[in-house]
Amino acid sequence: MASPLLSFFTGRPGRRAVETVTPERTFADVVLPPATRRTLDHALAEVRNHALIFVRWGLGERHATGLGLAFNFAGPPGTGKTICAEAIAHSLGMKLLVVNYAEVESMWMGETPKNIASLFQTAAEQSAVLFFDEADAIAGRRSAGLNLPQEREGNLSVSVLLRELESFNGVVIFATNLAANFDPAFERRIRTHVRFEMPGPDEREQIWRVQIHPEKTPLAHDVDFRILSERFPSSGGDIKNAVIKAAAAAAAEPGPDAHKVIHQRHFERAIEDVLAAKSVMQQSLFAQAGLMAPDDIARSLQTVEARSRAVLIALIVAAVALVTALTALGILLTR
Ligand SMILES: Nc1ncnc2c1ncn2[C@@H]1O[C@H](COP(=O)(O)OP(=O)(O)OP(=O)(O)O)[C@@H](O)[C@H]1O
Ligand SMILES: [Mg+2]
Repeated sequence: MASPLLSFFTGRPGRRAVETVTPERTFADVVLPPATRRTLDHALAEVRNHALIFVRWGLGERHATGLGLAFNFAGPPGTGKTICAEAIAHSLGMKLLVVNYAEVESMWMGETPKNIASLFQTAAEQSAVLFFDEADAIAGRRSAGLNLPQEREGNLSVSVLLRELESFNGVVIFATNLAANFDPAFERRIRTHVRFEMPGPDEREQIWRVQIHPEKTPLAHDVDFRILSERFPSSGGDIKNAVIKAAAAAAAEPGPDAHKVIHQRHFERAIEDVLAAKSVMQQSLFAQAGLMAPDDIARSLQTVEARSRAVLIALIVAAVALVTALTALGILLTR
């Protein structure tokens, strides 16, 4: 690994800023709506040809810049962006260098631009696919204000990232929930945008099936994934969580392990719980806990600012009036 700093961070337990993963999941593990699948197949073909032309045919060694392939995976949480990044790396026989940008920024405060450059170097040395997970933070529009140190660092990081993207001769994947926030300069450098959509009932039914083990997971006769997929609009991530919850509930029931099976009711209750928890989270933190959404916060700050300005002006006027009155009184008294 290029940078001892990177090694230090990759060696840490818990949620890591940077992590090298040997991909295990493949496209066989992912169920996607037809439109997403088509775009992804197209992207994959590009990646495959890229390896053939630039690696095996050696053209990468003859040309210095503009050879990289950048993808943007955009879509709601739990729709398979991360698993697809892994599948792409797997199909290329490469490792995946996963970068969690929010973590990177907080860990490397003051040194983010330098470390972004070293991420690209590490990916090149390890011949890994570079995957910026939760890339909204880094690829967001550059800030016009340059007053705060973090704004300056943010803008510099984006510039460094754009420069590195230009000269990188590998595969970079960005994953984001908020594609609308992307800096236009990124869009120009990213050739393939893949939209991940929420699965429809047919895809959901298949996702339920791929989430269980075909032979080992004990299912009761009443289990019907078609009914579950029609009744519960959910993401792949929700289904994954529900399957694990349902299994845990079935396993916790009394009796010998050999007699335990997962029933339809376990799956139903589990997915209901998952979706209920999600809707609580969405109603959010913001409205529920008396906190405000970011737009409301901005509006309130503007109101507070306007009010403070008015109070300040009133105070200045009052002070001027007081000074004038005191001066007049002084003149009167001294006569
Ligand atoms: N299309 C899918 N097909 C099969 N499994 C899926 C699919 N989408 C999600 N899953 C399951 O849900 C889990 C979470 O998905 P993943 O991490 O890829 O979502 P994501 O789009 O990266 O979400 P986030 O935006 O929150 O990072 C996967 O590990 C997988 O088990
Ligand atoms: Mg993800």
